[in-house]
Amino acid sequence: MYSSGTLRIQELTSEERAVYATLKPERLPQHVAIIMDGNGRWAGHRLLKRFQGHQQGADSVQLVTETASRIGLPWLTLYAFSLENNLRRPRAEVNFLMRLLRTYLESNLERMMDNNVRIRYIGRTHELPPEVQDKMAWAAEATTSNTGTTLTLALNYGGRSELVDALRGLAAEMKLKHISPDRITEEDIHRHLYTAHMPDPDLLIRTSGEMRLSNYLLWQVAYTEIFVTERLWPDFRGIHLLEAIADFQRRERRYGGLGEDSGEVGEEAERVKIAAS
Ligand code: FPP
Repeated sequence: MYSSGTLRIQELTSEERAVYATLKPERLPQHVAIIMDGNGRWAGHRLLKRFQGHQQGADSVQLVTETASRIGLPWLTLYAFSLENNLRRPRAEVNFLMRLLRTYLESNLERMMDNNVRIRYIGRTHELPPEVQDKMAWAAEATTSNTGTTLTLALNYGGRSELVDALRGLAAEMKLKHISPDRITEEDIHRHLYTAHMPDPDLLIRTSGEMRLSNYLLWQVAYTEIFVTERLWPDFRGIHLLEAIADFQRRERRYGGLGEDSGEVGEEAERVKIAAS
């Protein structure tokens, strides 16, 4: 077994290797999250049905996961099915997505094992159909000892409902331990999130050009770098993940502080009189 740090660069395609060669391995993100959007439009552009877009999208999931595992990315978290998708899409589409997920897990388990990928989930997964939950538990159990990339599928997930669930858990803990509300810290909230065991995403990728967060990982993306591409999810491949990482590495992360090019504060800032406007 190898750890998530073990690289399998020789397994990248030659095009991927060319992009990887431009990266600084010591500055790889630890956690990449993706909003996979555009399956329906991809199908529409080809006069296909929406479900065919989702089918192609599932192929992208596997290919991108394998590239992530080859470059030793520890955490990859994909928005596969939102609470809002569950409530607002036609039943036939929701049912298709549920069947697709089961088939996807079953038919890709061997490839997950070959790539040392561990499968996990976040979201209100207990509300999914029992047969889907069974398949999910089966895939998580089978891959639990893998030590490479952790692929987390966000399913029946919403960022606000995650916060509601976290705050309910925290409130119950506080009641039990008689803790007063003014003792609550950010760390307490973090401990009750679905993602308590993982670092916050360094990079959030969204496909198909929309500039929205769509209720994804709202707490966790506070300081995440965002990369939006016009490419539709069924056309997204490992090489595009590497290109997004290259773009990420050109950014300066400041976490609210000052960067190298921020200019001088000036000693007089403390004394200068501010005119009322
Ligand atoms: C957005 O496309 C995508 C989804 C609602 C679901 C994502 C699902 C997949 C990528 C396939 C299945 C995933 C797994 C893990 C097997 P959209 O339908 O909103 O596209 P549109 O905005 O163009 O209509």
